[in-house]
Amino acid sequence: MAGGAIATTRLLQAQAASAAENNNSTVNLKPAPALAPIMGTGQPETPVLAYNGMVSGPALHLHQGVAFQNNVQNGLDEGTTVHWHGIRLPNAMDGVPDLTQKSIAPGASFQYAFTPPDAGTFWYHPHDHTARQMGRGMAGALIVEEPEPAGFDRDILWVLQDWELLPDNEIVDGFDDVMQGMMAGRIGSTVTINGTLPTPLPLRAGERIRLRLINACLARFMALRFAGHRVVVMALDGQPVTQPYEPDGGLTVIAPAQRVDLLLEATGDPGSTYPVTDEFYGYDGSYKLTDLAYSGTPKLITSSKPIILPPNPVPVPDLKNPVRHHLTIVGGGMSGMGMGGMMGGMGMMGDSNTPVAIWGIKGPNGLNEGMTPIFTLPLGRTALITLTNTTNWWHPMHLHGYSFHVLSRNGAVAKYPHIRDTVILRPKDTVDIAFVADNPGDWMFHCHVIEHQDFGLMTVIRVA
Ligand code: C2O
Ligand code: CU
Ligand code: CU
Repeated sequence: MAGGAIATTRLLQAQAASAAENNNSTVNLKPAPALAPIMGTGQPETPVLAYNGMVSGPALHLHQGVAFQNNVQNGLDEGTTVHWHGIRLPNAMDGVPDLTQKSIAPGASFQYAFTPPDAGTFWYHPHDHTARQMGRGMAGALIVEEPEPAGFDRDILWVLQDWELLPDNEIVDGFDDVMQGMMAGRIGSTVTINGTLPTPLPLRAGERIRLRLINACLARFMALRFAGHRVVVMALDGQPVTQPYEPDGGLTVIAPAQRVDLLLEATGDPGSTYPVTDEFYGYDGSYKLTDLAYSGTPKLITSSKPIILPPNPVPVPDLKNPVRHHLTIVGGGMSGMGMGGMMGGMGMMGDSNTPVAIWGIKGPNGLNEGMTPIFTLPLGRTALITLTNTTNWWHPMHLHGYSFHVLSRNGAVAKYPHIRDTVILRPKDTVDIAFVADNPGDWMFHCHVIEHQDFGLMTVIRVA
């Protein structure tokens, strides 16, 4: 026992030493109520829930392969956890209440510790009372730095959040609305970048920018257009693409929870301004997000060396010998049978403690049930999972603890091979994903439209 304690102490000392070498000591996160200047200076502040008083939360900078510790002290009046979205980490550090840990009670603390294997753009958010806590502001960037700088002139982070505000800038309550939950979820009418109404982004002609986009909205999809500019996708969900590409139609689509790292070449004219718009909900007009504003300074002469992000050590699936499963997403509103018929058809009525299941996932043994694993994958084998969306709604489906290869969509091989942790299923889509099940534990698999998750679009995949 003493030996174990000493070994643990040594391990912690070693981790602390390596963390210190890399300026990466223990970070404290304290979620608590706060006031935040969502609508900008001079405007009434918004009562939010925040990490360390900040919306979005502090951007945490980690280093690939270097141990990280985070002490979370709950200053809320309800339980919370921190989930490190997209990080391949030990199951006990995944931050899912009643699955990987107990919820952190008000006033209590929890110590997270892990070593991020992958460099890239990730994020953190609560996984308890998620709709309300995240919807009221709790989300932050988690940047895992590459060992060597990739060669951009500048690194810019945009944490995108949306808000439904009253005239006094207070947040509209009601994060458990059934009508929203059975349809597209709660889509706020105000979008902020890094916690405030955006001001124009100052650019200097000639710069090559790494623009890290994180969609931290509960339900809002985005399709961003950078007028007058070519953007190149460098990484998706923290995983570099093997071959950088320009997105179709110049639109960068980013679903809730997804991240996109763009190369934005500042090819505009000094002194000029170019709008950035969100065109996802095109039917009611595009949303003007911000402007790219060029200073009058002369063009920056920068290196023309191509920028390549080194690949992360995500294991390559063995597609000759996979374990196969099929998961089908069912339910939702306006699916042709009305709410009563739909719920009756699914045979799922909530009891008084559980929200009514409006959505479901059908697996090999029928519909998903709470935290019961929908299937078990043998540790170390390649899993090839077919996902079918029978509903009329879009779902960003997210798997914890893994990054998966997106193989095909509706039978067509993915145009650009890519690895993600959250994949979009449009209405009626079928998508094949594959990964090596090398990380043991019980892992959440859910829709990241948080209201869909809350109303049943969630299950657990066991790896053992
Ligand atoms: Cu950001 Cu369960 O996920
Ligand atoms: Cu996650
Ligand atoms: Cu969904």
